[in-house]
Amino acid sequence: MTYQNILSQTSNGITQITINRPSKLNALNRDTIQELHDALEVANESKDTKVIIITGSGEKAFVAGADISEFADFDVKKGGKLAAKGQELLFDYIENLSTPVIAAVNGFALGGGLELAMACHFRVASINAKMGLPEVSLGVIPGYGGTQRLPQLVGKGRAMEMIMTAGMIDANKALEYGLVNHVTGEGELIALAEKIAGKIMRNSSVAIKGAIKSINANYKDGVDGFKTEIKQFGKCFGTEDFKEGTSAFLEKREADFPGQ
Ligand code: COA
Repeated sequence: MTYQNILSQTSNGITQITINRPSKLNALNRDTIQELHDALEVANESKDTKVIIITGSGEKAFVAGADISEFADFDVKKGGKLAAKGQELLFDYIENLSTPVIAAVNGFALGGGLELAMACHFRVASINAKMGLPEVSLGVIPGYGGTQRLPQLVGKGRAMEMIMTAGMIDANKALEYGLVNHVTGEGELIALAEKIAGKIMRNSSVAIKGAIKSINANYKDGVDGFKTEIKQFGKCFGTEDFKEGTSAFLEKREADFPGQ
């Protein structure tokens, strides 16, 4: 598939999706959100993809937010639709993908950019990364899940302060807050994400799928995470991966998971 605003390439089990509008600091316009959805769907269904890495092109930005020029003249109805459609197509979609998604935050991750990173399963950042939800400085609130996911990741008080002040935090502060898992030098970010992806790929993709579902269940209204875990745990016992994983352990060899 060819895209106008993103690049997607797969090798050694990893699909790297790069948002590629550097002249607009990779701001998320409508087309980019749709293309990201499409590329993620293709990767999630591909047998060649075990882990997805999302990053931004250029040296300055991961994503500097939703494209402000697209919604500056919206009314109440259009504003609500913008958030609902974006959440469905991209942000909730990523969170619930069965393939692990790592955000490699390589510069500004602001507004919708930080919301995109937070929708990924976890985040790594380069030392020049700057993160924030500046929406209230524009007279709106975060609308792509930011008011929900930021408190989940950093705690309510820190999220309240970040959102109310519209300020930015640097990579080390993000690490201290638990917003990112690792910080590295600018040139080493993708290598770090790939190294972690390599560790993930050694494990059962079927079991990882069940783990993602169970972890996410803890954050869904009206869903009992413990019950979800019990169901997913039980399901594992009917998989080829389980047979292979336990046999390999008992035979003192490395597992070669079929992914079923
Ligand atoms: N939407 C649309 N365009 C954006 C954008 C966004 N969220 N963020 C940056 N851009 C565009 C700028 O308009 C500019 O385009 P132009 O060259 O055609 O004028 C280009 O990207 C470069 O940005 P610029 O502001 O010149 O870079 P800078 O280094 O001076 O500042 C930022 C960088 C990130 C501080 C600044 O771009 C910014 O504050 N962006 C908006 C952040 C934001 O509020 N995001 C939340 C949106 S809900």
